[in-house]
Amino acid sequence: MADIETHEYDVLVIGAGGAGLRAAVESSALGARTGLICKSLLGKAHTVMAEGGIAAAMGNVYSEDNWQVHFRDTMRGGKMLNNWRMAQIHAQEAPDRVKELEEWGALFDRTADGRILQRDFGGHRYARLAHVGDRTGLEMIRTLQQHAVHRGIDVYQECTINRLLKDGDRVSGALGYWRETGRMVLFRAKAVVIATGGLGKVFSITSNSWEGTGDGHSLAMQAGADMIDMEFVQFHPTGMVWPPSVRGILVTEGVRGDGGTLKNTSGERFMFNYIPPMFAAETADTEAEADRWYDDKVNARRTPDLLPRDEVARAINAEVKAGRGTPHGGVFLDIASRRSAEYIKRRLPSMYHQFMQLAGVDITKEPMEVGPTAHYAMGGVRVDAETAASTVPGLYAAGEVAGGMHGSNRLGGNSLSDLVVFGRRAGENAAKYALGLSALPAVDAGEVSERSAAILKPFEGGRENPYTLHRELQDCMHVNVGIIRTESEMKQALAKIDDLRERLANVQVEGNIQYNPGWHLALDMEHMLHVAEAITRAAIERQESRGGHTRDDFPGTSGDFGKVNVVVRLRPSGMGVTQEPLPVMPDELKKLFEE
Ligand code: FUM
Repeated sequence: MADIETHEYDVLVIGAGGAGLRAAVESSALGARTGLICKSLLGKAHTVMAEGGIAAAMGNVYSEDNWQVHFRDTMRGGKMLNNWRMAQIHAQEAPDRVKELEEWGALFDRTADGRILQRDFGGHRYARLAHVGDRTGLEMIRTLQQHAVHRGIDVYQECTINRLLKDGDRVSGALGYWRETGRMVLFRAKAVVIATGGLGKVFSITSNSWEGTGDGHSLAMQAGADMIDMEFVQFHPTGMVWPPSVRGILVTEGVRGDGGTLKNTSGERFMFNYIPPMFAAETADTEAEADRWYDDKVNARRTPDLLPRDEVARAINAEVKAGRGTPHGGVFLDIASRRSAEYIKRRLPSMYHQFMQLAGVDITKEPMEVGPTAHYAMGGVRVDAETAASTVPGLYAAGEVAGGMHGSNRLGGNSLSDLVVFGRRAGENAAKYALGLSALPAVDAGEVSERSAAILKPFEGGRENPYTLHRELQDCMHVNVGIIRTESEMKQALAKIDDLRERLANVQVEGNIQYNPGWHLALDMEHMLHVAEAITRAAIERQESRGGHTRDDFPGTSGDFGKVNVVVRLRPSGMGVTQEPLPVMPDELKKLFEE
């Protein structure tokens, strides 16, 4: 161990998206020596893919909005499976976190009287997404990054963590490697915050970029943490479908929030055929009524184009399957018929450029072709709502890698607010825990050298190609554990995951250790196989359809499954799955649902 580069911290934050940056800022503000690890370059995080805004009941556009309405929308969007306390804290604290971002330099779009402007998004009763055109996540990262750098936090870029280390039952650090040199690096820490984001790269069509390989989910599972809600994967309804090189890239929900409508090849606004009973009362059921909503939002019911994402993604999937899809297997998203070119370019500048440059489509004149894309994992590390502590002492989780906040389906815009609300709490509580310990916990030198050898093993020779293994996993998950699922297909997926795991033991990478993406992928594959197995096992266990989990063999929602989380635990004997009761909501909050 003596020859491995080693760093020591009170708090180590793994992941430098919105949650990681916010956690690091808080931890450092409390006086904890804080290190921040970034798999990619600082500033490149999936946070930027939350384009349309950050949800917070500030009441700037509708004074009727408040945390209770936001809480209720969030719970209903999650089909009541959310951890109620997380959803409550989130709704209560989001406005302060937005104001804080503004104090730290974020430049939001403004109302005519100079307040932060808020836009409509699916499932939110009122226009509540504070935004910067369609680049909100980017502005948030820019702001947090600047703040973190000015605090003097140590940032380690292009560094991938491969294992968490433990001293007995508590976390004691992490072992990783530099992507550039391939050399190992050891971080000793009193507390670790994982804020590694999502796992979209397990699926073949995704809005996630190469970093989204479920590392944090897998690291936490391997460290013994409980995982919840892993069966719920959000397919954002609108990703690009053409050309193939850009398939899956996000088309912000802000397009529909600002007036875009979904149409099939016959020009029919098909969403009127897919309004579920739960949302019928507040959803317009005729085009005329929906159109009134666009013009006069106060008195009209919302357009069904802005139902929660799970509903819209399933509807698009059904239209395409029924043969009413576009030539490239999507549906049309049309904003040109309703809004002027000037409005579109001002409100949705990135979408305008994205379609013009990548697809040769002028969205001010023509419709976009869009279809579902794997975007977000609702499931993740089970955390305490107040402290963001996992079930492993010293290990905290925040952001997409944490489960519970969004239940079975996340509302758009709730991710950015989740990142800053729970990122702050994770940083605060990790720092308090760490500052209460007198010494660094121990690291086992034998474990470090064994693991270092395992990390280098793909260079030793074998015959499997990591890219082939990854493609096979993605195709298998997309077909068998995608938007619509059945037990028999998911069992085929489990068999395939076993097969891929065996083949991964025989993986061979070409070239040398410096900047070798094949090697990096071979190591990421271990994580992806863990998360794919966790998603699949949890999805087999949940014999009902709810949110981002639709079973063709169990199409209805079940009262019994509405009372439980599916919990996944990885143990030396294998991966176990149990059903455990949801925390019970207090009566005063239950009353909010009586309306
Ligand atoms: O559609 C979007 O702009 C994505 C937002 C989100 O995932 O929260």
